[in-house]
Amino acid sequence: MALDQLAQSSIWKALKKHQRDISDLQMRNLFAENPQRFDEFSLQWGDFLLDYSKNCIQSATMTLLFELARHAELDSCRDAMFHGEAINSTEGRAVLHTALRNQSGKPVVVDGKDVMPDVNHELDKMRQISDDIRSGRWLGHTGKRISDVVNIGIGGSDLGPAMVTGALKAYHQRDLNVHFVSNVDSAHLLDTVASLDPERVLFIIVSKTFTTQETMANAQSARRWLLQHINDTAAVAKHFVAVSTNANAVLEFGIARDNILGFWDWVGGRYSLWSTVGLPIALAIGIENFEGLLRGAYQMDEHFRTAPLEQNMPVILALLGIWYRNFVGASSYAVLPYSQRLNRLSAYLQQLDMESNGKSTRKNGEPVDYDTGPIIWGEPGTNGQHAFYQLIHQGTEIIPCDFLIAAQGDQPNDEHHDILTANFIAQTEALMRGKTEAEARAELLAADMDVEQQDQLAPHKVFPGNRPSNSILFRKLTPETLGSLIALYEHKVFVQGVIWNINSFDQWGVELGKQLAGVILPKLKQAEPVTGHDASTNGLANWVREMGSS
Ligand code: F6P
Repeated sequence: MALDQLAQSSIWKALKKHQRDISDLQMRNLFAENPQRFDEFSLQWGDFLLDYSKNCIQSATMTLLFELARHAELDSCRDAMFHGEAINSTEGRAVLHTALRNQSGKPVVVDGKDVMPDVNHELDKMRQISDDIRSGRWLGHTGKRISDVVNIGIGGSDLGPAMVTGALKAYHQRDLNVHFVSNVDSAHLLDTVASLDPERVLFIIVSKTFTTQETMANAQSARRWLLQHINDTAAVAKHFVAVSTNANAVLEFGIARDNILGFWDWVGGRYSLWSTVGLPIALAIGIENFEGLLRGAYQMDEHFRTAPLEQNMPVILALLGIWYRNFVGASSYAVLPYSQRLNRLSAYLQQLDMESNGKSTRKNGEPVDYDTGPIIWGEPGTNGQHAFYQLIHQGTEIIPCDFLIAAQGDQPNDEHHDILTANFIAQTEALMRGKTEAEARAELLAADMDVEQQDQLAPHKVFPGNRPSNSILFRKLTPETLGSLIALYEHKVFVQGVIWNINSFDQWGVELGKQLAGVILPKLKQAEPVTGHDASTNGLANWVREMGSS
C-alpha cells in the first residue's frame, strides 16, 4: 500500500522541500503583502470561525497538504469508519462513536445488524434515569431526594464527561451537584464524599470493561462508605448505577440489573461521552441539552463527511498539525481555551489525541519512520499568559497553538468577556508579529533609556514572532457548539491517524504498566524483602515497605 512508504513518497518529499523553500518567510510580511490573507486562510462553518491565516504557510503549502490527504486515501478511510468497517484492526472492532449521535434516521450496520435501535434504547433508558433523578421521582433508600451524583471512572470514563459537565455549568440544575472521582488515591473519593449526605448520593460506576483497577477500588470503597452510613445492603439498589459493556461483572459487583446502562465494544473509551457514559452530563444539564450536544456533534460529522477537503475544518486542522509535526519539527502542541469553563479541555484532548496517535507502529506492524502524535498540553487563558506563554513567545521551540473562544460570554454586556477576548486576539497577533530589534529599541528610546541601556535590554525585548496559531471561535458555549467542537477534534485526530497510517483506536501502550502494577501490589505487603526486579524497582518497593509501615 502506498502509505507504507509514506516518507519515501513524492508528496512527502515535495512537502519537505517546500518547507525548506519557505522557511525564511515571515508571517508579518505575508500579511503586509496580501490583505486578503485572512479571507484566504479562514473558514466559516455554522456558528464557527477557523482562522488559520497566522500559520507559516502559503497557498502552495495547503495544496501540497491536501494532496497528502488524497495520497492517504482519506475519503475512503473516512467512509470506512462511518460505515462501520472494523478499522480498529488490532482489536477487530468497528469505530462508531458517530452512530451514537446519528440523527439521519438512517441505519448504521455492524456485522449485518443495524445498531441504531440499541443506541436509541439505551438513550431512552438514560433519559428515564436522568428525568427520574432530576425531577425527584428517584428517591434514595431512606426516601430522600438525590442531591449529589458521584461519577466514578477513569480515562475515557471520566475525562470527557467531566470536561463537558464543567463546560456547561450554565445549564446545570441548581439542586443537583455532579462530582467526578477518578484517582485511586483515596483522597479523591474521601475529599469528594466528605461533605455529602449518603442518603442523598447516587454513585455512577463507569467502566467499559468493569475491570479497571482504580475504578473497581473506588467503587468498592464507595459501597463501603454508603453501607457504613446506611446499614442495609438493599440501599445499593437505590444509590448505585453502572455504565459498562460488561453487564456480568456489574451484576457480580451487586448493582441491580435495572440500574445498568450498556454500550458496545465499537465505542472506544475516549470516544464514549456520547454514549450512556454521558449519564453524568445528562444528569447535570438535562437530557434535552445532552441531545443538543449530540446534535452539534452530528452536524460536525456531516460537515466532515461531506465538505470538500479544502473547506473541511477537521481536515485543515489535522493537516496543519502534520505540517508542524513532520515538516517543521514541532514536538508539542498547545490548546488554549479562553474560557474558564473549558479548563479540562486540554486534559480531555490529551487522552483523545495522545492515546489515539501516540504510536510508533504502522497498521501493518512495521515501525514508522516519521514522527506521529505530538505532546498535547495547555491551560485556559488568560491564566496561561502569566505562566508558560513566556516560552511560547521567546523560547527556543516552535509550539503551534489552538486559541479558542466564544464570541459571547454567558453574561450579557460582560466587561470581563471583552478583556478575555482582547487578550485572546492580542496573543495571536503578538505571536505572529513578534517585535523586531528596531521596534524594541524605539520603545526603549521613548522610555528615555540611553544607548547603553538600550544595548543591554534590547536583545531581551525582541520577540522572534512567526509563531503559529489557529483561532477557533464559536458564537457561544452551548451544548450544540461544544458537541461540534469535540467532534472537530475527534475527526482531526482521525485524519492524522490516517495519514500516519497508524491505528488510532487501540491503546496497547497502557497495558505494560497495568500488568506490572498487578505484580508489585501484593509484594508491597509481603513479609520478606522484595527481590526479582532490577535494583531500582526492588529498592523503591523495599523503601516503601519500610517507610510506609512506620
Ligand atoms: O488505561 C487506559 C484505558 O483503557 C482507557 O483507554 C480507558 O478510557 C480507561 O482506561 C478506562 O477504561 P474502562 O472504562 O474500561 O474502565
